[in-house]
Amino acid sequence: MHAGLLGIEELDRAEIEAILARAKDFQPIQSQSLKKLDTLRGKMIVNLFYEASTRTRTSFEIAAKRLGADAVSITASGSSVSKGESLVDTLNTLAAMRPDAIVMRHAASGAPHFLARHLPTPIINAGDGTHEHPTQALLDARTILDRGKQLEGLRVAIIGDIAHSRVARSNVFLLAKYGADIVLCGPASLLPPELKQLAPGVTLTTDMDEAIRNADVIMMLRVQLERQHEAAFPAGEYFPFYGLRLEHLKLAKADVIVMHPGPINRGREISSEVADSQRSAILNQVENGISVRMAVLERVLSGEQNAGAAH
Ligand code: CP
Repeated sequence: MHAGLLGIEELDRAEIEAILARAKDFQPIQSQSLKKLDTLRGKMIVNLFYEASTRTRTSFEIAAKRLGADAVSITASGSSVSKGESLVDTLNTLAAMRPDAIVMRHAASGAPHFLARHLPTPIINAGDGTHEHPTQALLDARTILDRGKQLEGLRVAIIGDIAHSRVARSNVFLLAKYGADIVLCGPASLLPPELKQLAPGVTLTTDMDEAIRNADVIMMLRVQLERQHEAAFPAGEYFPFYGLRLEHLKLAKADVIVMHPGPINRGREISSEVADSQRSAILNQVENGISVRMAVLERVLSGEQNAGAAH
């Protein structure tokens, strides 16, 4: 494993399975009254977020604290970035304060990879542009396993704004390592044909019914208007064509899981009936965000290799 965690693409199955198994060890702690361990006591983690976040930033901070580490969260709007400080200068400044790891989210694809080459501090990618969101794919995998499914041979439909989705890319990289059958689906304007080459087992379709048929897992994605220079699809027509509704679930396997990385837009890409249904694993994903990020932080900061099969 890298000194930090930059992406799923460079992890092998053994590394993924070690993180997922360790995350499972951490799950019971989340519902205990005393949630704090001292595994990372004395360590300092800086969360540096150049883009908005609710789930990732909060769960990294909680994960660090549950491991006994100190955590400081910085957002671009509340930092000297708003006074014109460059990314490199900001990171060098933070590194000079000797944190043990920097968790960062940035709008530019490759920003954490660039910084990892220039800084001695391990960097954990919390989402870089349209490229990768590795801990999201790990927590998604943990959630799928928790629902009693195997990653091997899974049929997964990923539906929505594929073009701008780092969540889709990280999930494709992870699921492809297990021979999953991955259908990427969305309007043609949000479904670049070159994504078929992303990994073996990937197919593309603009037909939502075709994507969902026999699916074990349906992952819905938000339309990322903030990354679009012009409207890719008429807003009023999106839900009728690409919004997940209860009737779609009949096309999938009877035990299909519906997932969404959040934030969800009810009535845009998913109906409330589906989001709140028994098939929805959306809040399980959020819950697993803490266990998975504890596993990642422990691995990066203590260098422990808690190898073991995912179960
Ligand atoms: N899934 C996810 O990355 O959510 P946030 O943007 O709230 O962190």
